[in-house]
Amino acid sequence: MKVVLVGNGAREHIIAEKLAQGCELYALMSKKNPAIAQLSREFWLCDIENPGEVASAIRGKDFDLAFSSPDATLEAGISDVFEEQGVLVASPSREASRIEWDKGFMRSLMARHRIKGLPRHEVVERVEDALMVVREYGSVAIKPLGLTGGKGVKVSGDHFDTVDEKAGYAQALIKKDGKVLIEEKLVGEEFTFQAFSDGSRIAMMPPVQDHKRAYEGDSGPNTGGMGSYSTGRNLPFLNDSDLEDAKSILRGTIHAMKKEGTPFKGILYGQFMATPDGIKVVEFNARFGDPEAMNVLSLLQGSLVDTFISMAEGQINPPAFSDESTVVKYLVPEGYPESPKKDAEVGVDSLGLENAGARLYYASVYEQNGKIMTTGSRAFGVLGKAATIEEAEAVAEKGCAFVSGPVWHRRDIGTGELIDKRISNMKSLRES
Ligand SMILES: Nc1ncnc2c1ncn2[C@@H]1O[C@H](COP(=O)(O)OP(=O)(O)O)[C@@H](O)[C@H]1O
Ligand SMILES: [Mg+2]
Repeated sequence: MKVVLVGNGAREHIIAEKLAQGCELYALMSKKNPAIAQLSREFWLCDIENPGEVASAIRGKDFDLAFSSPDATLEAGISDVFEEQGVLVASPSREASRIEWDKGFMRSLMARHRIKGLPRHEVVERVEDALMVVREYGSVAIKPLGLTGGKGVKVSGDHFDTVDEKAGYAQALIKKDGKVLIEEKLVGEEFTFQAFSDGSRIAMMPPVQDHKRAYEGDSGPNTGGMGSYSTGRNLPFLNDSDLEDAKSILRGTIHAMKKEGTPFKGILYGQFMATPDGIKVVEFNARFGDPEAMNVLSLLQGSLVDTFISMAEGQINPPAFSDESTVVKYLVPEGYPESPKKDAEVGVDSLGLENAGARLYYASVYEQNGKIMTTGSRAFGVLGKAATIEEAEAVAEKGCAFVSGPVWHRRDIGTGELIDKRISNMKSLRES
């Protein structure tokens, strides 16, 4: 079985690790991820967001299965390149992944099919209309429609307060993109619930909570994600009925995509907000979350290759997950995200990590003369997995100490103190 994986982050590192257990792995990367390179029989470097370059890179080669992982490759139609070559594909087509790269489409799909969890929203093209909506809604989230690497959305209270500031941001986005999405601000606790979809049916993975803010106590600018945790079958601030509601929203979305003639095969990532008015949809992604992939795939039992094949063939065979807890902490360069220290050497003590029971996943680093160097982005994901969240957090924390150099991480992710804060926040919101 020859499987080709597209992508080169920490998320793709754990996908590669899991796939390599059951196949001959090949990789297409934009930059060489040393760990993925090692797991692969062969790898090729090219612009993985360019369909022409990908088509040339794979010309004359024979694969049984392909999986294109990063959001921008899905929008670029890399899944379609493999499909055209007659390869079985486990990631969504360009059209199906529109659910992620066009937030306006996503909201209108939800409205057309009466999918629950839809916040009040408006797509506007004129500054006067933006001003009207901002005045009417009060607290808002203002969003570019397309992909921004998690850095385009601004929210009342976090990023702006006055009508002028909101209108100013809406105006800037209209100028850039011709339109902007304005939503009512949702208040609650966010969580990630991901599914494998075969185009008709879904199979769920354990829920995870990610941390977007750069600094401890959830302050500072938004990032690609600083770390995440899972605690078995559910998260401590959610009820079972919350998860059921989120699952039925994901199922409804898959049915809607099928009805519209663009069936969604691949990983459907639901980003939800648990609010006093129920579960709301913040957005959908058409791929695994990064860091969340490390949480869920480390719990996967059985073969990821088999799961991908069943998904691609339209007959999903739901995989089992162990119900341990996981904590992922991202090590990021000093100064990240605003002025990250680039091209600095970092040291990895692999034996120390192994003895600590932690796993290290390579994100945005490169090798030079046998040394590992940082780029400006997140450098490594450190994973702890254990029977309890306390132990998993301690393992991840211990693991972080075996990476030396100018990198740092959020110590509070997965700690009892931060999780208690989520629980009491949700409790007081539900009681109010
Ligand atoms: N309607 C909303 N109300 C409150 N917060 C929101 C809302 N929409 C987005 N956010 C916040 O902004 C973050 C990014 O928004 P999202 O729609 O997920 O875009 P992206 O991940 O593509 O940047 C979310 O994780 C959430 O914290
Ligand atoms: Mg998001």
